[in-house]
Amino acid sequence: MESNNEYALITGASLGIGREIAKEFARRKINTLLIALDTPDLYDIQKDLQDNYDIRAECFPVDLTDALSAAAIYAWCNENDYVVKYLINNAGFGASGFFESVPLSRYNQMIDLNTKAYIAMTHQFLPDLKTLEESYIMNTSSMEANLPIPYKAVYTGTKNFVYAFSMALSKEVQRSGVRVSILCPGPVPTNEEGLKRLENQGKKGQMMALYPDQVAKYAVKNLLEGRLIIHPGRMNRWINRFHRMLPMPLKMQILEKMFRSYTEVSPSK
Ligand SMILES: NC(=O)c1ccc[n+]([C@@H]2O[C@H](COP(=O)([O-])OP(=O)(O)OC[C@H]3O[C@@H](n4cnc5c(N)ncnc54)[C@H](OP(=O)(O)O)[C@@H]3O)[C@@H](O)[C@H]2O)c1
Repeated sequence: MESNNEYALITGASLGIGREIAKEFARRKINTLLIALDTPDLYDIQKDLQDNYDIRAECFPVDLTDALSAAAIYAWCNENDYVVKYLINNAGFGASGFFESVPLSRYNQMIDLNTKAYIAMTHQFLPDLKTLEESYIMNTSSMEANLPIPYKAVYTGTKNFVYAFSMALSKEVQRSGVRVSILCPGPVPTNEEGLKRLENQGKKGQMMALYPDQVAKYAVKNLLEGRLIIHPGRMNRWINRFHRMLPMPLKMQILEKMFRSYTEVSPSK
């Protein structure tokens, strides 16, 4: 059992991959701090973890696109003597379709949540993480981080940013006890729209898909083992190796064809 005031802080913990990551920590008897918007889902997962896993689970409802949110979360941790040993930056969303069909305000929100919030949280907590003998940061990127995907240009850009930022940071902290991991999931049906999108992609997409609990299990195991890049799913690992061998023009042609259907439906990841 973790020392009683050590916690895993997970953003986007109320739903999808984040919720399953929180459960995975709880299974390992690690206390959790759950961060998401103020919705019933957040309190549901808190209750679930408290009732079923014999750990402490606290929640802090906040909009992470608010520039002051990281400071507010940090102050809440200090006031309550919560020591964050595992920082999991996971909250994020996407948008797809022709680039110009998504309102600029939506893109700005996406950039705030998928990139700026990761920087703010890491900037706020890193000095304290460095004081611990051993601590962990995991940033959720995507399998798409190194695949410039047409019709998801801004989302792909944010995930590429998370990948590069995390990779660079992992080197900066190499002489401290902080380990940085980059989680790169493939398609994960976390909601109705995700399921629709997967159906739309046919067999190829379905072969790559994993459920949120499978992603979380693999992610937390590899995080604790100190792995830098975490690619859940054998098929996704294979694709990740394979696409690097393709010349860029051919790769872009394949990707454009694969994702053209995203101009017809409007999925959100
Ligand atoms: N699903 C996939 O196929 C897939 C693939 C690769 C990477 N990813 C990445 O994995 C991460 C999790 O994705 P997911 O599919 O699990 O997402 P999800 O099911 O939509 O859950 C997103 C989580 O983020 C929270 N959130 C959203 N906006 C927020 C805000 N402004 N402030 C605070 N919390 C906010 C949500 O809480 P509320 O609902 O309460 O707002 C929810 O807990 C994201 O970074 C995503 O880009 C997903």
